[in-house]
Amino acid sequence: MPVELAVVIPTLNEVGNIVPLLQRLDRVLAGIAWEAVFVDDDSTDGTTELLRRLAQERANVRCLHRIGRSGLSSACIEGMLSTSAPHIAVMDADLQHDETLLPGMLAMLKGEGLKGEGLDVVVASRFAEGSSLGSFSSARERLSRVGIRLSRLVTGARLTDPLSGFFMLKRDVLEETARTLSGQGFKILLDLFASAPRPLRLGEVPLHFRQRHSGTSKLDTLVMLEFAILLADKLVGRVIPIRFVLFVLVGLFGVAVHLSLLALAYRGIGMGFLGAQFAATAVAMTVNFYLNNQFTYRDRRLKGRRFLWGLASFYVACAIGAVVNLQVAESLFTLGAPWPLAGLLGATVGAVWNFGVSSTFTWAKPRPRPVVRPDADVPRFEPVRPHGTGD
Ligand code: GDD
Ligand code: MN
Repeated sequence: MPVELAVVIPTLNEVGNIVPLLQRLDRVLAGIAWEAVFVDDDSTDGTTELLRRLAQERANVRCLHRIGRSGLSSACIEGMLSTSAPHIAVMDADLQHDETLLPGMLAMLKGEGLKGEGLDVVVASRFAEGSSLGSFSSARERLSRVGIRLSRLVTGARLTDPLSGFFMLKRDVLEETARTLSGQGFKILLDLFASAPRPLRLGEVPLHFRQRHSGTSKLDTLVMLEFAILLADKLVGRVIPIRFVLFVLVGLFGVAVHLSLLALAYRGIGMGFLGAQFAATAVAMTVNFYLNNQFTYRDRRLKGRRFLWGLASFYVACAIGAVVNLQVAESLFTLGAPWPLAGLLGATVGAVWNFGVSSTFTWAKPRPRPVVRPDADVPRFEPVRPHGTGD
């Protein structure tokens, strides 16, 4: 029977939750051809091994094991892309999401009981009429509501819970948006709505958000920073790339580091000026590299040997950037520009140079393969008939 529904479940150290979750899914999805796609980011508590074993035992359980990667959104996207089911649900592994809603959500997507063609996306909302937040702390609830308001600004969609991690969509919607998703952070639903080329037909069902079954939450403060970056990217990213903004912020911090070290080395411990300047520059560049690797390019983070190569190429890029900066500033100055302007423009050109070169070479983006889409002439698959069974 062709698979009708895929349930994509991101996991990071959820070993105690997998079996109870599968038992519940078995119960509520009986009669539906479904599969579970677990996307595991190299858990250290035995989740991966457990998933491997279950996937061996059961045809409808798969494990997508990612190594050296993380991020809830990208895990969900890769899980969704790995299935060919016409309907795809995303839910957490920790049993906070009420699995009994799944059959109803599927019926809504398929248009059963509705006029017309059915919906594109059905969201289980913690804020729709009839929902509840369970034991959410009031601080967390307030935070959620602020996030929701900001998100509405970005998507324009009438989602009551754009931050929900529990929803179901049609495969076509994924195909339409997959290439424009930002994939950063943990707000996959928000990303989908903000990236869709057309308004999506939306349905909502109320969710009673439950207690986590076992294990601990993975969403920390860094995740909040990522959320802010995603929002900013969707709001003004087309005008000023947010990556560039982060790069400049890191650069400004680097200037502060540089000046403090220079003061310390030159004035404090009495090094010669050139030596002090050299040491301050080297340290500031290294700090900049580290911070950019940590934040600006956290999705392309370099590790191990690639970290060292990246650092070397960053030194070279910045050294050339400094020469360009000096050249521009000097020519403007001799042309009669006031010194602060000449200095600022030199530094700006240098920063743009550093950003361009380092994002092309140091943190090079993996190159996407060209997309070939045959339209009508896809070869048909003819099942082979065994010999001797005439028709
Ligand atoms: N593969 C993978 N990689 N899975 C992850 C990662 C990751 O980097 N981070 C978290 N997960 C998995 C967890 O194992 C869990 O199954 C699910 O994603 C949700 O993580 P939790 O740590 O339980 O998140 P939460 O309960 O604090 O947040 C939930 O509520 C938010 C709304 O406040 C999630 O549903 C969020 O998506 C939702 O926005
Ligand atoms: Mn949770």
